Amino acid sequence: MASKEGLQAYEEEKLLSLPKERGWGSRHLYLLQHFWCPSTHFQGVINFQNHFQAKDSDVIVASFPKSGTTWLKALTFSILNRQRFSSSHNHPLLTSNPHELVPFLDFIFHGDNIQHKLSYLSNMTEPRVFGTHIPFPSLSNSIKESNCKIVYICRNPFDAFVSSWTFFNEMKSESLHELTIEEALEKYCKGIVGFGPTWEHMLGYWEESIATPNKVLFLKYDELKEDVIFYVRRVAEFLDCPFAEEEESNGVIESIINLCSFEKMKNLEANKSGTFDRNIEKKYLFRKGEIGDWRVAVRMKIAESDDENGNCGLRLV
Ligand code: A3P
Repeated sequence: MASKEGLQAYEEEKLLSLPKERGWGSRHLYLLQHFWCPSTHFQGVINFQNHFQAKDSDVIVASFPKSGTTWLKALTFSILNRQRFSSSHNHPLLTSNPHELVPFLDFIFHGDNIQHKLSYLSNMTEPRVFGTHIPFPSLSNSIKESNCKIVYICRNPFDAFVSSWTFFNEMKSESLHELTIEEALEKYCKGIVGFGPTWEHMLGYWEESIATPNKVLFLKYDELKEDVIFYVRRVAEFLDCPFAEEEESNGVIESIINLCSFEKMKNLEANKSGTFDRNIEKKYLFRKGEIGDWRVAVRMKIAESDDENGNCGLRLV
């Protein structure tokens, strides 16, 4: 639930006037500016839209949830900060989760005391790197009008759905038990999912990447996995910090890729325990990291329907 105490009266009134649906990562979703905003994010989104001032040097890692946000945050942070931190010694990613180094904008703006948040933001080391799941049309005007850059990632929606369903199951989301996987999938297809509809989300960033290719870089998880060296080079060029020949020959790209790899990140102590943002357990961020895992879900569903005992409740592994 959005904390009523934390909401200004006008925000609360606005919230109550919006179309509402049951969510499965948060109790409710509200249709805000054509996207389904989780109740837990509402205040942060509104505050972000009203108060965030982008700098030209900012980099925004934008994504649809469960599409590789954690990975892209790690890669972007490492690419931008490769002069400051060696990839193998004392790198912040060895001791901090990517979401702690690259915070979500709406999470920064969650709660009261806007002045405190603004002063924290103005003291951040540049280039500042932030994450967001907010669709392009609902980003703050200062992001659209400044020269800051946006790196966007999306993923095959079947895989993103399975990843999301499993994630919220593991998190034992308060509201999830109220939905079967079939109901959740139906909602997902109708676009009723946090920050959905999915296609509109992708389309918003896609169209912007075509219209202003220096502003928005559009990536796909599946392609990134298939040729990570190519895309790490591409991201560095897009962010105006291409790898020098010397860096290439010294294996800097490979070091970044290894540091941010699924296996490496999953096995770091920093990612095995503890929480970030709204009590999200870090260990659940790293599950399989594969392309096409939705097929496993379908096979399990078929196996389940063959179950003579009539067991219900699909479990994904
Ligand atoms: P699966 O649940 O299919 O395994 P997000 O970061 O947007 O929440 O996306 C989560 C998905 O990205 C999960 O997919 C997770 O396992 C995968 N992932 C996390 N870190 C990764 C990494 N370093 N490389 C590749 N995939 C990663």
